[in-house]
Amino acid sequence: MDKPARDPIFQAEHLFLAHPAGRGQTAAAILHDISLEVERGGALALIGPSGSGKSTLLRCLNRLAEPTGGIVRFNGRDIRSLDPRELRRQAALVMQTPVLFEGTVRENLRLRSAGADDDFSDERLAASLADVGLDPAMLARDASTLSGGEKQRVTIARAILRNPEALLLDEPTSALDPPNATLVIETVSRLREARRLSIVAVTHQPDFVRRLGGTLLYLVKGRVEASASLDGSSAALADPRLQAFLAGELPSAPSEPR
Ligand SMILES: Nc1ncnc2c1ncn2[C@@H]1O[C@H](COP(=O)(O)OP(=O)(O)OP(=O)(O)O)[C@@H](O)[C@H]1O
Ligand SMILES: [Mg+2]
Repeated sequence: MDKPARDPIFQAEHLFLAHPAGRGQTAAAILHDISLEVERGGALALIGPSGSGKSTLLRCLNRLAEPTGGIVRFNGRDIRSLDPRELRRQAALVMQTPVLFEGTVRENLRLRSAGADDDFSDERLAASLADVGLDPAMLARDASTLSGGEKQRVTIARAILRNPEALLLDEPTSALDPPNATLVIETVSRLREARRLSIVAVTHQPDFVRRLGGTLLYLVKGRVEASASLDGSSAALADPRLQAFLAGELPSAPSEPR
């Protein structure tokens, strides 16, 4: 059988990132020769110990961090040739701690960048809440009264309203208790399937990686130590560290959020 044609949304080639020495600090090499590819509608999970460069690598994908070597392509184009704001709309970052400001859920969802002409009608806002499994009646609620899991799903709804092609998630569940984490994992996985959203997620949670599928990349000290596809047979997952991670037994997985 012919393999389906490749249609990558992200391609990173030989990324290096080093912070220069300064004020009594030695130069720090953060990312070392990292290459990766994310298929459109596909998923990539970044795992590894604290300080291994996961967040930095994620942020390189929408120019919140600038590599000192290598190239990142989005839809085939060098991201340095794209408008950063447009890139960040198309590849939206969702962080560990939901960032909502004082005001109603409606006001938080409407928050727009100048010049955007999106449709922010109540009907569409309500549909976006339904997409993340929240009651549309929540539009009028004061955002500060929501639970952590509800807040995180509102930040995902806010990103979705801007029609992104990809979501970049930096430990989106690690500030949540298990039931809320499960709801966020389900929301992201369903959005991937329903909208063919591409997902890149930093996570310490085996459940999330298993539910999401796609590719798993294990970083240690800024280098790719192991990688595997989770979509094929389980025999492909030969690396004992990846097996240990999926079994919830990777000793280096930190539990403390930061
Ligand atoms: N401006 C900077 N100057 C020097 N080192 C930095 C700077 N920013 C980040 N680092 C270092 O880069 C390394 C990678 O950080 P990063 O946040 O990407 O790790 P991480 O894998 O996301 O860790 P965690 O799981 O704890 O979130 C860390 O050692 C961090 O201290
Ligand atoms: Mg991090």
